[in-house]
Amino acid sequence: MEGNKGRVCVTGGTGYIGSWIIKRLLENGYSVNATIRSNPEHEKDLSFLTSLPGASQNLQIFSADLENPESFGAAIEGCIGVFLVATPIDFKGREPEEVVNKRTIDGTLGILKACLNSKTLKRIVYTSSASAVVFNGKDIEVMDESFWSDVDYIRSLNSSGDSYFISKTLTEKSALEFAEQHGLDLVTIIPSFVFGPFICPKLPASIYTSLAMVFGDKDQYSYLINFPMIHVDDVAKAHIFLFEHSNPKGRYNCSSDAITIEGMSEFLSSKYPDFTIPTVESVKEIKGYKFPSLSPKKLLDAGFKFKYGINEMFDDAIQCCKEKGYL
Ligand SMILES: NC(=O)c1ccc[n+]([C@@H]2O[C@H](COP(=O)([O-])OP(=O)(O)OC[C@H]3O[C@@H](n4cnc5c(N)ncnc54)[C@H](OP(=O)(O)O)[C@@H]3O)[C@@H](O)[C@H]2O)c1
Repeated sequence: MEGNKGRVCVTGGTGYIGSWIIKRLLENGYSVNATIRSNPEHEKDLSFLTSLPGASQNLQIFSADLENPESFGAAIEGCIGVFLVATPIDFKGREPEEVVNKRTIDGTLGILKACLNSKTLKRIVYTSSASAVVFNGKDIEVMDESFWSDVDYIRSLNSSGDSYFISKTLTEKSALEFAEQHGLDLVTIIPSFVFGPFICPKLPASIYTSLAMVFGDKDQYSYLINFPMIHVDDVAKAHIFLFEHSNPKGRYNCSSDAITIEGMSEFLSSKYPDFTIPTVESVKEIKGYKFPSLSPKKLLDAGFKFKYGINEMFDDAIQCCKEKGYL
């Protein structure tokens, strides 16, 4: 039976955000074509997707890889919407910048070219990232969608996440330009650190970073100086909200809260006394990149409402990590 709202495609179905969007789309009455990367050496266990409520009737799985954009054609066919969520995420600098850029930009533009031939498609929602906004060297505490990261500035930071930050910036720009030139209805959504529960099998990297003080991983503390964040369920709902909106335009920040490293130390030690959390005094010494907050005004003005706050983000992530044996 076809979901009564129509069929949509979600790329990156095995990922943290992709799997949560699929769950919400199925609950909302959509049929979903989810793409995953197949691995000939070891078959992926997709039961976390195929056991979702509604999946047996309304979820179809397709194999596709950004290395070969034509591989997305079958999953896009007959869809009214495409959610472009998949991206290679490499914070260890394993691959050179050019290789990652080529895969993400060519892969995304290849999918958009396939979308041009669709007779059914109404809108594409591209999942960008705060890293396409915040790295511009400007000392501003809250940034709206008019800010773009500067690729040379990112390179000057010499961080192991450079290739990811650069590829997100250039891919979002290229996707918006391509859509403008070819008359495609495409919006981008820009989440900050995404946090909360998860259904995917791997511990998501953004949850690991957000819970760095709980896991005791000091190497991650440098990301926490000022930490903008958003609950995964709000992110998924914002994707669907923008897809269903009558006339969205351009980029939309999606970030509900921010907390400083001192605030996080205080909050975690009073709320979760069972964990050994570094003291406020000790974290004052930590040096790192001070992320600005992202203004969600444009998304809120369009009518979206955030449901979750910092309490739920930490409660849900910790609970889920305990249930899955990570804590
Ligand atoms: N999590 C955050 O805090 C956050 C914040 C802002 C924006 N985002 C954006 O949200 C999106 C999803 O991130 P996530 O946190 O859910 O990450 P994730 O769990 O690592 O998911 C990434 C997904 O992309 C897929 N992928 C990687 N390389 C691919 C390729 N060459 N071809 C096809 N698929 C490929 C992965 O498939 P495999 O399972 O096969 O590797 C996985 O399904 C990304 O675009 C990311 O930039 C995330």
